Amino acid sequence: MPARSKALPSVRPRPLRARTYAGTPRNLATLARVLRSGGLVAAPTETVYGLAANALDPAACEHIFLAKARPQTDPLIVHIEAISDLAKLAVVNPAALVLAKTFWPGPLTLVLAKTALVPAIVSAGLPSVAVRMPAHPLFRRLLRLAGVPLAAPSANPFGYVSPTTAQHVRDGLGEKISHILDGGPCSVGLESTIVDLRQPARPRVLRPGAITRAQLEQALGVPVLAPPRRRTPATAVAQIAPGLLTRHYSPRTPVQLHTRLTTRTVSSGDPREAWVFIAKPPVLRGKNIHWFNHRGDLPRVAQRLFALLRELDQAGFTRLHIELAPGRAGLADAINDRLRRAAAI
Ligand code: TXA
Ligand code: MG
Repeated sequence: MPARSKALPSVRPRPLRARTYAGTPRNLATLARVLRSGGLVAAPTETVYGLAANALDPAACEHIFLAKARPQTDPLIVHIEAISDLAKLAVVNPAALVLAKTFWPGPLTLVLAKTALVPAIVSAGLPSVAVRMPAHPLFRRLLRLAGVPLAAPSANPFGYVSPTTAQHVRDGLGEKISHILDGGPCSVGLESTIVDLRQPARPRVLRPGAITRAQLEQALGVPVLAPPRRRTPATAVAQIAPGLLTRHYSPRTPVQLHTRLTTRTVSSGDPREAWVFIAKPPVLRGKNIHWFNHRGDLPRVAQRLFALLRELDQAGFTRLHIELAPGRAGLADAINDRLRRAAAI
């Protein structure tokens, strides 16, 4: 019997499932239909790309958790089209209305007691719900056409760096989802500020973002508490799956943070390690020298943060040395929060 020739292993990469759509009226109508019929659509917001599903459809929301491999103990943010939709989902108080009127549409999420309309899977069984009205025109059109609130966490595998372009979504979830709406790079680049308003006299930031505590205090006229040392949902998850949330927004390459990087620290370093400055350093150049923004302009640093972390994570460096943003207030606080989580082991 002739020897059977051994089948050659296939060398072609598996085709990606996801299709990317430009934001044409026809495509938006198609994607709104997908959402109404229980499907998932990754779509741009001004902060990061979100993985959206009908927030009132528990089965659709369950698919979000499956696609992201996200534990169901981590609640989702619900996106609405108009301030008037808030009262359907949450128990509204005057402080919430002040913040909504001041900052919506925009990168601010309000945590309030939930109404019975919000499925338990969305709030991870908590009696509260997180709601925001996004500013991105494409996401807003999707909301209007779908005619339902949209639950949308960041469109990345759980624990990895958030996506700020359609290609980032494709890189992480291209084989898990079918529809990606491309709206170009996100303008803010960091996830929304989350503020807990369940006790309106004692508002508290749960996650820092582009809308700062000082801005919230100015709008509300009362002090706003800083984030708890351990975020409430992080604690909840950590109890069930210890360590899961310690590495959040994390590249696979080890990250080491520095309050200030100087030419001297870098030149004594290992060339297989990358050095990432907030602003362009005056003299150093090389394949392993990077910066977030030429002038260290913080809104630009925020915009570029996740994209550069992703690029460097794929460049084969053995370690990423990253400089923290100067100062402790405002955007520096939000940027450093993400950098600290990227560095957590
Ligand atoms: O900018 C953003 O907020 C983006 C875009 C897509 O809107 N979304 C986003 O979602 O960052 P995600 O899933 O990556 O973060 C949602 C976080 C949860 O991890 C949790 O910390 C908090 O929101 N959250 C949601 N519901 C909550 C609740 N009821 N109480 C406290 N925190 C809540
Ligand atoms: Mg996320």
